[in-house]
Amino acid sequence: MSGRGRHVVLRTGQHMPLLGLGCSQMGGEELSAAVTAALDAGYRLVDTAYFYGNEGVVGEALRRWLGRTGTPREDIFVVTKLPNIGMHTGGPEKFLKKSLDQLRLDYVDLYLVHTPVGYKAKNDTDVFPRDDQGYPCLDDATDIISVWKEMEKVAKAGLAKNIGVSNFNIKQLRKVIANATILPAVLQVELNVYLQQPQVQEYCRRQNIVITAYAPFGSPGRFNTGCKSGSCPCDGDGGCGWVLEDPVVRLVAESHSITPAQVLLRFLVQQNIATIPKSANPTRIAQNNDIWGFKLTETEMEALKTRDKGEAGRRFGPNYAYYQRVRDHPEFPH
Ligand SMILES: NC(=O)c1ccc[n+]([C@@H]2O[C@H](COP(=O)([O-])OP(=O)(O)OC[C@H]3O[C@@H](n4cnc5c(N)ncnc54)[C@H](OP(=O)(O)O)[C@@H]3O)[C@@H](O)[C@H]2O)c1
Repeated sequence: MSGRGRHVVLRTGQHMPLLGLGCSQMGGEELSAAVTAALDAGYRLVDTAYFYGNEGVVGEALRRWLGRTGTPREDIFVVTKLPNIGMHTGGPEKFLKKSLDQLRLDYVDLYLVHTPVGYKAKNDTDVFPRDDQGYPCLDDATDIISVWKEMEKVAKAGLAKNIGVSNFNIKQLRKVIANATILPAVLQVELNVYLQQPQVQEYCRRQNIVITAYAPFGSPGRFNTGCKSGSCPCDGDGGCGWVLEDPVVRLVAESHSITPAQVLLRFLVQQNIATIPKSANPTRIAQNNDIWGFKLTETEMEALKTRDKGEAGRRFGPNYAYYQRVRDHPEFPH
């Protein structure tokens, strides 16, 4: 299914699909069906994380699909991530081995440090440990350079074909790069038409780091509950940050007879930015991958670039309720 223009080449020479299925906020039968629908629709990348607690379901769905179709394992690009409780000596090896067990794989194609913010672990399963007052057990001593050295070990051991980071800012990337023997292949960050991060894009381009954009639709399932019901203050004009409702995105979609979601994804892959939309809906899963038969014009790309809201477009930032107290950590990136 995958052809020219659907991949980006990583610094290791490995080809990474530009589009994959995001697997957060799904589990059980729903996730299993989503992974199967995605692979059937031609996706060749799945993005999961130890933090999501669903690697077992992903692994089982993958195993069944490979068996049914006779597709070799090497044709699928599997991404998972080091949890925030594993940011210490031996953490990456220990947690990657646990992920591989769950995924039923010998290696992952890409292993990412999920976040620069480390937590003090209570055990191996509580990925968001809290103290008696309910505050996250942050590990203020998190040392991203030594974490990266541990990541290099799992790459050298062949447990991960590529290693990278997620949610790191430019300063943190610089720090890692200045001390690395294996350079990060990928930076996975929140990025979409409302949060385009041109400086991060430019820095990564210069450093030969491929960007994967998460939340390409602004993660509406997580952040917008009222927009469609009419109770949202933006009245559906996109002012709430729900980028799927943006008027320019909608105009471009209408002119190509495609959906706003397809515009948002095409906007990214056309710039060689990989992306991992999440959907549990088989029709939308297939539609989100149907972005290879058209091209946005230069004028359309420029018009979409003007929709950037800068930091105001960030949803997973300091105002995200989930990050209460987490933003006090010395390595909080935003
Ligand atoms: N590294 C990190 O820290 C990090 C953080 C967040 C996310 N991620 C990764 O990135 C992936 C994607 O991010 P995300 O899930 O937060 O946000 P997203 O992909 O921007 O949005 C997902 C939401 O959009 C809806 N949707 C999907 N396709 C659609 C379409 N064609 N039209 C309209 N709505 C559509 C989905 O609903 P339905 O399911 O009902 O279709 C879901 O509610 C995650 O699954 C995860 O793998 C990584």
